Amino acid sequence: MAELSSSSNSVPTYLNAPIRLEDVLVTSELDSRPQRSADVVAESKALRQLSQAMAASPDELIQTLIELGVQLCRADTCGLSLLETTPEGDRIFRWTNLAGTLSAHVGGVTPRDFSPCGVCLDRHAPQLLEYPSRLFQYLNGVDVPIVEALIIPLVPIGDDPLGTIWILSHHEERRFDSEDVRMMTSLAEFTSTALRLLRSKEVERAARMEAEAQVAQRTSALRRLSISLLQSQDEERRRIARELHDSVGQYLTGLKLNLSRLNGAEHQPLTPELLAECLHAVDECLTETRTISYLLHPPLLDEAGFASAARWYVNGFTERTGIRARLDLPPELSRLPRGVELTLFRILQESLTNVNRHSGSQAVEIHLNVDAEGVTLQVSDFGHGIPAEKLERFRQMGTTGGVGLGGMMERIADLGGELKVQSNGHGTVLTATIPLPLTGSLNSARRSVTTDSAEVGQIGNGGHHAGLCQKESLLALMTKTHELRHGRGHRR
Ligand SMILES: Nc1ncnc2c1ncn2[C@@H]1O[C@H](COP(=O)(O)OP(=O)(O)OP(=O)(O)O)[C@@H](O)[C@H]1O
Ligand SMILES: [Mg+2]
Repeated sequence: MAELSSSSNSVPTYLNAPIRLEDVLVTSELDSRPQRSADVVAESKALRQLSQAMAASPDELIQTLIELGVQLCRADTCGLSLLETTPEGDRIFRWTNLAGTLSAHVGGVTPRDFSPCGVCLDRHAPQLLEYPSRLFQYLNGVDVPIVEALIIPLVPIGDDPLGTIWILSHHEERRFDSEDVRMMTSLAEFTSTALRLLRSKEVERAARMEAEAQVAQRTSALRRLSISLLQSQDEERRRIARELHDSVGQYLTGLKLNLSRLNGAEHQPLTPELLAECLHAVDECLTETRTISYLLHPPLLDEAGFASAARWYVNGFTERTGIRARLDLPPELSRLPRGVELTLFRILQESLTNVNRHSGSQAVEIHLNVDAEGVTLQVSDFGHGIPAEKLERFRQMGTTGGVGLGGMMERIADLGGELKVQSNGHGTVLTATIPLPLTGSLNSARRSVTTDSAEVGQIGNGGHHAGLCQKESLLALMTKTHELRHGRGHRR
């Protein structure tokens, strides 16, 4: 890029006195100078050239216009100066297109507030300057003297000035007149329109590229999520297998041993102790089987709906973890669509699992609201929050490394809803909103159920909860079972 500096001086020596703007501004002379006649042939040829450029290579339209400026005005140099703001915040003109003698200076810059172009924009009208480098001494850095500069403002976009188009003469004998002003004014109009077109194309292209980047990012996030889900599925299967083997399997083995003692060579008589042992083993098998099957899919959810399933689950959660939970439900929550109830339940499971595994919080609050907009489930804890980088990654790409939050988001999006995750060093609030087709009569009064370890004994089935207690890790994985079996989390 050519530099504009004050290294050389081509200005006549008689002009060394302190110079003011009025000394170089000769716009008023345009009225008195003889006007050359319009060259209609050249103009119509130029128009043809323009329309060809517009059709063949719109990106070169501006350069074509600048070259036409040289031809039609018989100028030595023609240029386009566009306003821009530097990263440091300075407003400058950049010589984006040049034709003629100074074409090597393309890319050069001049200050917005102390330059011939700045004067033109301040005055909102064409300006003629004679030996402008007397005042704007940095112009001495160009190779040849600038005898005259005719500068025309571009038509602004709204209130935003774009810049200027200008022609220069480097010879004493070439002076500009009002015919040059007319010609350059119409070139300025063409240029402004071309610039607007190019800018809207650029905006369009940038928007398209951003949309494409977002799609690519989302696709790769989904791919990662489904890989994590598959790994999670494998791990879950291993854990279920181990659970079945270590619990139900052991009890059944014991039971079989007892029964074979009755039947085998020993012909042991059936004593009350042996019978009690057998019955105990069967009871334990039933409890274990029920525990596992409840965790995979609580029957309460289908039979009695989300409210009952949530109460059951929250009570069990408090018993298993010692984390106090407050469950705030509308008093008469009517049944919600099946898919919505299941999604709400899975969100509750996963978010409570996360509270237990990650938050360090001693309490959690769950709040459900149904109104004309839909249903909102909010789970708040008071722990140390999601690490900032994970939260940012989740917001930007929808992934965290785990499948919990990502899976929740996919499930909710599947129902046309949204998941909001707010988190800082004082806790995390997860808000899931799901639209409902028709919400019917709504309840505004609220009833709260608070659970803590002390009162759990009175709520629900203590024995069953004790069984759940040993399966906290299994529970975390089983939360996702339904998703995996039914292909959720792979939404396209
Ligand atoms: N309530 C919370 N408090 C603090 N950190 C949390 C909370 N919930 C999630 N996180 C953080 O966000 C991360 C992502 O959670 P996510 O549920 O997506 O995955 P995960 O729990 O690590 O694994 P997965 O759910 O797949 O078993 C967690 O690893 C944890 O660091
Ligand atoms: Mg999780």
